[in-house]
Amino acid sequence: MRLAFLLVTSATACFGAAPMGWNSWNSFANIVNSQIVQQQAKALASNGMKEAGYEYVVIDEGWWLGKRDAAGNILVEPKQWPAMKPGQKDGDMANIAEYIHSLGLKAGIYTDAGRDGCSMYPDSGPKYMNTGSEGHYEQDFLQFSKWGFDYVKVDWCGGAKENRSGAVQYAEIARAIERAQKITGRPLFFSICEWGSQNPWFWGPGVGGIESAIWRTGGDIIPPVVESLHDPEHEKRVITLANVLSSFEAGIHPEAQHTGYYNDLDMMVMGMRGMTDGMDRIHMGLWVISSAPLMVGSDLTRLSPATLSLLKNSEALAIHNDTYGLQPIKVMEPVPGVQIWAKPMAVAGRRAVAVLNRTDAVAEVKIDPSKLGLTGTPRSLRDVWNGRDLGTVAAAFSVPAHDLVLLLVDGEDKKSPEYVANQSEITGIKATSGPTFARLEYTNTSGHVAVIRVKSTSGLSTSLALAPTTGSETGTAGLILPHGTADLSFDAQAVAIRNLAVYSW
Ligand code: GLA
Repeated sequence: MRLAFLLVTSATACFGAAPMGWNSWNSFANIVNSQIVQQQAKALASNGMKEAGYEYVVIDEGWWLGKRDAAGNILVEPKQWPAMKPGQKDGDMANIAEYIHSLGLKAGIYTDAGRDGCSMYPDSGPKYMNTGSEGHYEQDFLQFSKWGFDYVKVDWCGGAKENRSGAVQYAEIARAIERAQKITGRPLFFSICEWGSQNPWFWGPGVGGIESAIWRTGGDIIPPVVESLHDPEHEKRVITLANVLSSFEAGIHPEAQHTGYYNDLDMMVMGMRGMTDGMDRIHMGLWVISSAPLMVGSDLTRLSPATLSLLKNSEALAIHNDTYGLQPIKVMEPVPGVQIWAKPMAVAGRRAVAVLNRTDAVAEVKIDPSKLGLTGTPRSLRDVWNGRDLGTVAAAFSVPAHDLVLLLVDGEDKKSPEYVANQSEITGIKATSGPTFARLEYTNTSGHVAVIRVKSTSGLSTSLALAPTTGSETGTAGLILPHGTADLSFDAQAVAIRNLAVYSW
């Protein structure tokens, strides 16, 4: 029974999971064009990644020409984005979106919240100013949606240059996206990229009333490494473990992340120059346990079998796609640099655990189940990379230097206080000084995603998106509470909270 349970892994992303796919920037910077995107989309569709759940093909900066026509439409270089079949016109971005869709994938595009895009600092290729979306929000997002794009990444170079408020601009963009979605009937996923400069974890969840969004929490892991350029600048770029770890650390804001709203730790650099197999496991393990967007920035035509198989590891992806979508908390550091990060999963008593060895020596590690909020001895401990059971938690295991072991632990949750809803709110939910986690059971018969608000005396307010439920079915959602006392409020017409249990680890 237990084994069967553990092996139920979802191959495709489920409701509200953080997006998975490919992004052009890390490996192609602004030399991106139709041919490159076609090659990468083809690789994604044929190397097993699509079946594993990677679905978006995102064209980052480099697609525009830096000019608009008299009606304000963004112009592109026709040769860079040519017609691909009879009836199409050169220079129409709908061509590439249609191609991506023909492979059963979704298409993504890029803009900036300000007047200028990041092309004012070109990494390679020409400098194209003035094609950010400010002043054209409604027009541009409708255009992206009409072209057929399903995802839009909105950068902040122009917004930062003009000293804009991220909370204000991105809320306005969220509304433009919702308007575009209504007109075309096509969902347009919202990816905010202001590098954590204005604490987006405070205003990102529920921004502008939108049902789902991701926000970058830091700068770029590395400047792009475009192998095909063979220029000295790109040749000298080598990714280090510190690059990957600092993106992870900048991205840990667990109280802000719930189903539908995710901290974005940056596009992945799996297998790129400097990455060892151990570093790939660290990168994949930390992104997966963080339920972070898995947007792979590598050249998909050159992935090693080891990197590809990590990216497709179905048990790891099931941790990523867990319906709670929570971030991990550091629960132990038995030796400086040997860290145990853990998070609660939607199945009661289940934890995902990453044992990260940042040191230069092998680490022998024992897990203390009480630090995971479990009572007694866990029933099982599973090694996710190798898909095998490890026996009991009491046993120690080794983690090589600069490597990461990913585990799934099943046990019994410690007892918890429960709270009762009073119509449209639950008040006075207490979080102690340790990690505190709330498990919510609800019904949402509105037929739509319902958003509940969380307000804490710690000053944090956030939102949690609840998927619709049908009939007598009960949904569950989880949140990590900030220290202090929190209140939840929701629309009692749509949502009924059946039970709220609070667990302190
Ligand atoms: C910024 C973003 C990157 C990428 C580049 C494009 O640096 O953080 O992810 O989009 O702009 O110039």
